Amino acid sequence: MWVSRISSFGAQAIKKLTQGQLAHVQRTPYLHASSGRIQTLQLPPQMHRFFCTTAATEEEQTINVTFVETDGTEKHIKVPVGTSMLEAAHSNDIELEGACEGSCACSTCHVIVMDVDHYNRLPDPSDEENDMLDLAFGLTETSRLGCQIEAKPELDGIRLALPVATRNFAVDGYKPKPH
Ligand code: FES
Repeated sequence: MWVSRISSFGAQAIKKLTQGQLAHVQRTPYLHASSGRIQTLQLPPQMHRFFCTTAATEEEQTINVTFVETDGTEKHIKVPVGTSMLEAAHSNDIELEGACEGSCACSTCHVIVMDVDHYNRLPDPSDEENDMLDLAFGLTETSRLGCQIEAKPELDGIRLALPVATRNFAVDGYKPKPH
């Protein structure tokens, strides 16, 4: 049944294309099996999305995250779903420390979730995370460990503030570089 529906959908698309009824088309390259040459299929955006999963998948598999640094600078990044905020920060030159490299054994990846709505969408912290958060400098009601926040679609648009200091900072202001 699905096969026949898909075929019917494809047949309708081709019919409309040949009749010139589609004003806005998008070019989708494909490998022509018998000639071995790259050819172009013209599809309207909604059909391009149906036939070509690459663009849609990339779009759906990242979320928008904003890190607000201690001086107020905002860094807007795209984070792949499944990536921790600690990994995302390190991949984007954001100074989130992460002394234990994400094993929930320090508090140097402390971040403050800036809006309660996103905070409430996070899974509850584990006992280990709560223990480490108790050691964090400048703990707030919406504090979490960056290594324990995993990018998920429902967290799209989350804003994370970096605390002004962590327990590992030396008194002269020296900040260890992320590993
Ligand atoms: Fe140590 Fe997150 S990096 S607890």
